Amino acid sequence: MGQAVKVAVIGAGVAGLYTARELQREGHQVVVFERNHRLGGVWLYDPRTESDPIGIDPTREIIHSSLYPNMRTNLPRQVMCFTDYPFPRRETGDPRTFPVHEEVLWFLNKFAEDFELTELIRFNTEVVRVERVDKKKDKWVVESNTRGSDSLGQEVFQAVVICVGHCTEPRLAEVPGIEKWPGYQIHSHNYRVPEPFQGQVVVMIGLGPSSFDMSREIAKVAKEVHVATRNPDVRVLKLENHDNIWLHYMVERVHGDRLVAFKDGSSVYADVIFHCTGYKYHYPFLETNGIVTVVDNCVGPLYKHVFPPALAPWLSFIGIPQKAVIFQTVELQSKWVVCVLSGKVLLPDEKEMMTDVERYYQKMGDRGLPKRYTHHLYPNEAEYFDWLREQTGMPPFEEWRKQMVAECLINSRANYDKYRDEWNDSYWDGIIKAASVP
Ligand SMILES: Cc1cc2nc3c(=O)[nH]c(=O)nc-3n(C[C@H](O)[C@H](O)[C@H](O)COP(=O)(O)OP(=O)(O)OC[C@H]3O[C@@H](n4cnc5c(N)ncnc54)[C@H](O)[C@@H]3O)c2cc1C
Ligand SMILES: *[C@@H]1O[C@H](CO)[C@@H](O)[C@H](O)[C@H]1NC(C)=O
Repeated sequence: MGQAVKVAVIGAGVAGLYTARELQREGHQVVVFERNHRLGGVWLYDPRTESDPIGIDPTREIIHSSLYPNMRTNLPRQVMCFTDYPFPRRETGDPRTFPVHEEVLWFLNKFAEDFELTELIRFNTEVVRVERVDKKKDKWVVESNTRGSDSLGQEVFQAVVICVGHCTEPRLAEVPGIEKWPGYQIHSHNYRVPEPFQGQVVVMIGLGPSSFDMSREIAKVAKEVHVATRNPDVRVLKLENHDNIWLHYMVERVHGDRLVAFKDGSSVYADVIFHCTGYKYHYPFLETNGIVTVVDNCVGPLYKHVFPPALAPWLSFIGIPQKAVIFQTVELQSKWVVCVLSGKVLLPDEKEMMTDVERYYQKMGDRGLPKRYTHHLYPNEAEYFDWLREQTGMPPFEEWRKQMVAECLINSRANYDKYRDEWNDSYWDGIIKAASVP
């Protein structure tokens, strides 16, 4: 065992729970701060929505989770778990391969129970400030606000691991004319049920997984749903198997009479603009004197999306990557952070790490990618995972996990309405069984 470090983990979602387990296993002293009353992060459904439906008002009370009651996973449960801790089916729950969200919360609670993590968590405790003490790299003050208490708590830690997720702070599309557009606007973060959209004409901006699910759910009660995508190949297209969902190429401008004009030449009078445009990285508690910033949704500089070179290894972020299988990302990143904190794995020096980050930015620039894509791993996920595995001495992920994710992507593109229910379980059970025979 290496050196024992006193570590603050912020957040008790997938990332915070796994990181806490890894830290504890290595003999570190762990405190997990969680502002919610229960663990689970995104997977802890909250029926409340925020007072500002597009999340601009800075004084609004933040509701963490964007889940809606009918939400089902978009990945098979076999890859929504950790390699040493599978996601079983239980008799009393939803046994489907792509279960409804409550099942994932159950799984996370079971994980926490089995590894006695709940004792480590300070619930109802929001971290409001994280800052270095006396410019010492391994001395951090964590200031927190516990619900019901009238003074802030302060405690000093050697290391802080930020696991606060990034699906809470809405990102909005820039829509020319929106200041004068008189209809109702909402961001997917504040969507729960379709009923409020009864009989309405809804324009949905964005074509990610949330918009796929929500457009279909809303279309059952709305008059029309028009989905605007950035894909320039799209020209007004009615979705197959749906009577009232259309695809369009980007919104060009909206007008004071509710008209929404698309770049494909079409237009509609809409009642609702529904932003399905994703989220922003947001760390209002982090004070680093400009060392770590978020610019155009790039958190940086971060060595391998985890360590700010100037503050490493005492400050780290787990779960930043997007377009990557989050459970596997979290597993490898947290093992790496823990090995580094224990002194078992050495990081390059600050200058080398900075050079690596700059090289990464340079490569993105060469490929014409905007800064906001910095943390998108696809299609380089495998390369990133291999690199992390090498650091931590983890065996490779089984081949079937990669195949399963790839197949899921193909199926969802080909047959979005049915891919989850037409998943061939017996085929995959066979593959997994064959792979587990030594
Ligand atoms: C609608 C939706 C659907 C998704 N579907 C899937 C899916 O099907 N499959 C999949 O693999 N992934 C899916 N994801 C991705 C999902 O984000 C990850 O599965 C996972 O929940 C990320 O975990 P995390 O721990 O990084 O963040 P989170 O789950 O967001 O947890 C962060 C935790 O930090 C706490 N926190 C935040 N700020 C503070 C603070 N200042 N002080 C104290 N605590 C704080 C929060 O309360 C929260 O508990 C989905 C996400 C969304 C939004
Ligand atoms: C599922 O896979 C099994 C085994 O490969 C195959 O025999 C069966 O025909 C498949 N079923 C469907 C519906 O594709």
